[in-house]
Amino acid sequence: MYPERVVSGMRPTGALHLGHFHGALKNWVRLQSEYPCLYFVADWHALTTHYEEPEVVEQNAWEMVIDWLAAGIDPAQATLFIQSRVPEHAELHTLLSMITPLGWLERVPTYKDQQERLADRDLSTYGFLGYPLLQSADVLIYRAKYVPVGEDQVPHVEFMREIARRFNHIFGREPGFEEKAKAAVKKLGSRKAKLYDQLRTRYQEKGDEGALESARALLDEAQNLSQGDRERLFGYLEGGGRVILVEPDVLLTEASRLPGLDGQKMSKSYNNTIGLREDAESVTRKIRTMPTDPARVKRTDPGDPAKCPVWQFHLAYSDQRTKEWVQQGCRTAGIGCLECKQPVIDAVLAEQAPMRERAQRYLDDPTLVKNIVADGCDKARELARETMREVREVMGLAYS
Ligand code: TRP
Ligand code: SF4
Repeated sequence: MYPERVVSGMRPTGALHLGHFHGALKNWVRLQSEYPCLYFVADWHALTTHYEEPEVVEQNAWEMVIDWLAAGIDPAQATLFIQSRVPEHAELHTLLSMITPLGWLERVPTYKDQQERLADRDLSTYGFLGYPLLQSADVLIYRAKYVPVGEDQVPHVEFMREIARRFNHIFGREPGFEEKAKAAVKKLGSRKAKLYDQLRTRYQEKGDEGALESARALLDEAQNLSQGDRERLFGYLEGGGRVILVEPDVLLTEASRLPGLDGQKMSKSYNNTIGLREDAESVTRKIRTMPTDPARVKRTDPGDPAKCPVWQFHLAYSDQRTKEWVQQGCRTAGIGCLECKQPVIDAVLAEQAPMRERAQRYLDDPTLVKNIVADGCDKARELARETMREVREVMGLAYS
């Protein structure tokens, strides 16, 4: 119905590390050539937990955008913007809050979890409770089809689907829907109208998903429909009202996880990270001093890669032959740990070299970054405004 847009955001919490790259950014880069993608700096979301550190938001935001560009996000393909510079997100958030049951927010699992985990901060704020709703506005405002996120964010996408459904249920039910939908069918022209009716019947009577798909494709191609009629026909297919907000799907980032230097999750708070653009010398030192299987006290002690964080790095970086060399060499004490780490060091440095190079241009000329973001904000805003026009209209705020 709408282009298959992808939307995702990241909170500007400081320089990104290789965990971010393997866990999210690499996926963003892949997606940018497959879909129209919108990637944004979730600065309001950062304030939900870090409202006492406003001075770092801006610096972190610019740095993060440079990290994105360094990682290979191409501003000619993807739209990069800053959440707070598209204030329509806040308007939609307010309007959605009118129909959001408190219980839905209180039951989102991250709400209690995070409050416990970040016990040193006072998170008994409205903003923190409303986090998933703001996130819903971020995505629904672009009528996105896919949201690439990690496992931990799945409940948030589930939440936004429920919000979209509830919104459509309440505001997509206009008086005379059935008549308006039938009139819209006629506008398809007789051949397509007949096909639409047949497909709709097949879906509604037999639950034929293929028919639903075909009918949607037919609507996608129909030229002379107004936006309102298009939404009616999508809704009419499934027996509901107008589909004003689209229910997005999660696009799970495949599990090419990179743990931290100590084998735990890579995270700044564990002090076990390798920065995306960290200099080669420091990276080499960090990997050379990484812990290994504690059983290998002496060079002649055999080890077990399964008990060694270096092996996790081999899984992320090494080819089959190298992995076999590690397995064999470690178990027989045929290789030493430093020897084992060398291919990892080489691979990490090789991965980072082009990133450091790409970043240099932007570090030398920060206006390039500002211009990219300004363009992205303009583009995003235009799309956001389209949705808001309709949202206002169905909520009785058109004032025409
Ligand atoms: N909550 C996300 C995170 O912590 C960040 C985020 C904010 C986001 N808005 C979004 C992700 C919209 C996807 C879509 O990672
Ligand atoms: Fe780890 Fe490699 Fe040493 Fe084995 S040889 S303990 S896998 S670093």
